[in-house]
Amino acid sequence: QLALQTSVFGRKAVILNSTMSTQGDVQQMAEQGQAEGAVVLAEEQTGGRGRFGRKWFSPPGKGIWMSILLRPEQPLRNTPQLTLLTGVAVCRAVRAYTGADAGIKWPNDLLINGRKMCGILLESAVEDHALRYCIAGIGVDVNFELADYPEDLTSIATSIKVETGQQADRTKLAAAILNELEHLYFVYQKEGFGVIASLWEALSVSIHREVKVSNPQGSIEGTAIGLDPSGALIVEKSSGERITVVSGEISLIE
Ligand code: BTN
Repeated sequence: QLALQTSVFGRKAVILNSTMSTQGDVQQMAEQGQAEGAVVLAEEQTGGRGRFGRKWFSPPGKGIWMSILLRPEQPLRNTPQLTLLTGVAVCRAVRAYTGADAGIKWPNDLLINGRKMCGILLESAVEDHALRYCIAGIGVDVNFELADYPEDLTSIATSIKVETGQQADRTKLAAAILNELEHLYFVYQKEGFGVIASLWEALSVSIHREVKVSNPQGSIEGTAIGLDPSGALIVEKSSGERITVVSGEISLIE
């Protein structure tokens, strides 16, 4: 039996049948002064959002579509750390609750057997270069069958059910995610990013691998060697030159 064991996260929770995007719903609550830890969950999103302006396929009843309001007492430059922290929390919860062999592809896609089953979108509200609040959006493909995916996703996406052969209880998994997220968030606020970085590196499928990093500034290839103290990825080129990458996407080179 798995229940919510948090003191703050998810204690205010709104559960919707259908919404455009839970990110927008939490943003509205944040602007109205809602306290940290408020959560919106939806059975279905009609306009689910992914990173880089992409759409996030969010059909009814198949996944966890959830957004959480964070009001971290952190400078704006630390938001990449929160992105990584969220990935670590979801990965640990999925592994513990379902037994699936999930790993993290930098910055925070969760993969099982090389296919993505979870995406995380961290959006920040900024004023005068200061962080007002963050919204952590988590999308987990829980009970999809392969046939549920549109054609363009079948080669890259997967679900916990496809990979483990088991249906998972979405409510319990969502509670497990919130328990883990609150725990790591409290550790982070108290002790800083060090512990989180070690956990991230241990779950990462990118570290010590040849990667190609792409972002609007261009792309580079090299070996991913770890995180720097801010949460950026350090990539070592064949020339030995080390580059720190703050945002973008990577692909693993075989
Ligand atoms: C990505 O990998 O591109 C991030 C996907 C994030 C999807 C989640 S589902 C809940 C929340 N609401 C949204 O519209 N997006 C996030």
